Amino acid sequence: MKIHHIGYLVKDVEKAAKAAEVLGFVLCSDMVYDSDRRIRIVFMENEGYRIELVQPDRDSEIYPLMKRYKNSPYHICYDIESEEMNAAIERLSEQKFALFKAPSRAVALDGDVAFLMSPDIGMVELVKR
Ligand code: NI
Repeated sequence: MKIHHIGYLVKDVEKAAKAAEVLGFVLCSDMVYDSDRRIRIVFMENEGYRIELVQPDRDSEIYPLMKRYKNSPYHICYDIESEEMNAAIERLSEQKFALFKAPSRAVALDGDVAFLMSPDIGMVELVKR
């Protein structure tokens, strides 16, 4: 499966973007506020590598992850391209990936995303655009 981005959890998305610029990343999206997820989010690119910087509000369901991850990568997102979302989820579910966030609209990606957890390789996001 093709990697779409690496998701970083960050305390301050603007400071994180500045630090990523030092590492050679350039902005490739606007800084967006996703009011459903209560996160500030921006995408950056460095020679084909794309990262997503996610700053959750305190009342975001993602916020509790800050305690565990601080400023750190926390998921890899795969573009399922031609596969249907439900087919991809079903296929992964047969391989011990557990769906914990059903497909829903992601404003910043202009597509649907779902999240699964593997006991062996951690959090995985799927995007269908
Ligand atoms: Ni993501």
